[in-house]
Amino acid sequence: MVLDPEAFMVTMEKRISFSEADKAILQANLAWGKSIAKEMADVFYTYLARDNEMNAILTAKEGRMHRLNETFIEWFGEMFSGMDNWGSAYAARRWRIGLVHVQIGIGPQHVVPAMATVVNEVGQQLKKAGLPDDVREALGRICMIDLAFIEQAYVEVSSQAVLKETGWTEGLFKRMIATGAAGMK
Ligand code: HEM
Repeated sequence: MVLDPEAFMVTMEKRISFSEADKAILQANLAWGKSIAKEMADVFYTYLARDNEMNAILTAKEGRMHRLNETFIEWFGEMFSGMDNWGSAYAARRWRIGLVHVQIGIGPQHVVPAMATVVNEVGQQLKKAGLPDDVREALGRICMIDLAFIEQAYVEVSSQAVLKETGWTEGLFKRMIATGAAGMK
């Protein structure tokens, strides 16, 4: 494995200032999070299904939508519980979610707006429930950490696949990307 999920988690926590206070507030609101998880899943998959390309992915396999509803509800709850206090189990689970999306061919263009939908909908739900801003802020931070895992998986898997297939060194690959980017208009 190229990326160490636990180390990546620690880096992201520091980078986005996901604090002990954020963790405490999420855990304190776990019951509320669970109570809205089903509605969140409905909004999320209605959003994905509006897009032809994403809808085709969602309906490509028998039972996929059903599984997705369940896994989304679980995922949503885990942001509040933190599983093992946002430790190695949490990080490994987030990395795995990233890998699953790479395997299916879901890229940043799909995932970023999808996470924005989650953040927006959570904001609406918080307002409806009259919950304070610090819950929204904590949730916003953990959503961005989860998003970083999915996006990073995409980059790590693509570059590792190229390196393995070609035998290039990482240094050469990075130089080629830099040169390619410089040559693009
Ligand atoms: C906020 C972004 C997203 C989150 C949090 C999320 C969450 C998840 C989770 C938790 C799983 C289960 C992973 C596992 O089996 O271990 C999953 C799988 C999957 N997701 Fe997402 N997802 C996101 C974005 C998307 C998007 C944009 C699509 C586009 C269609 C998508 C389609 C799928 C599909 C097809 C699977 C595999 C389902 C199966 O056959 O079991 N997801 N997702």
